[in-house]
Amino acid sequence: MEEQPKTAEDGPDSGEEKESRTLQAWLAGIAIGCLVVAAMIASYEIGKNNADTPVVADGPAPAGEKPAPEPAAAGPGATLFSTSCGSCHTLAASDSTGTAGPNLDDLQPDAALVVAAIENGGAGTGAMPAGLLSGDEAQQVADFVAESVGSGQ
Ligand code: HEC
Repeated sequence: MEEQPKTAEDGPDSGEEKESRTLQAWLAGIAIGCLVVAAMIASYEIGKNNADTPVVADGPAPAGEKPAPEPAAAGPGATLFSTSCGSCHTLAASDSTGTAGPNLDDLQPDAALVVAAIENGGAGTGAMPAGLLSGDEAQQVADFVAESVGSGQ
């Protein structure tokens, strides 16, 4: 009969225990909830990264239209051309579509002709401003154009 009082004493204890168990259950529930949210965020990020990777990998592929002029299109002449000449001249290597002057892909000028055109202003009719560029810049653009249209330098 010693056990009876124990049980009686346990009564209130087990009630408290019950409360703390409920609290533990809540905490566990919240913790699991957080884990689920974290897992969702993680899988979203992973999914996003995986989705990004093929885009980056595909990046250079569509540029397969004109693989040859690409090295030239990265140089200073390419930048100068698109800012100083592209508004009037079409040149595929520079993505320029100007129509005021002749299409340079068709004309295929060599570097010397381009330098002369820059110095004199096109063929000298006044339709193309003379001296748009000079010195090194004129030469860089001329080299870029000649290289791009395949006329040599
Ligand atoms: C305002 C418009 C305009 C700009 C800007 C321009 N051009 Fe021209 N370009 C022309 C026209 C128009 C012609 C046709 C020839 C003429 O009437 O003089 C021409 C002709 C040319 C020719 C052919 C010349 C010939 O003897 O047949 C070359 C090469 C040329 N341009 C290169 C360039 C370069 C390189 C640039 C940039 C530095 C440039 N152009 C900027 C309008 C322009």
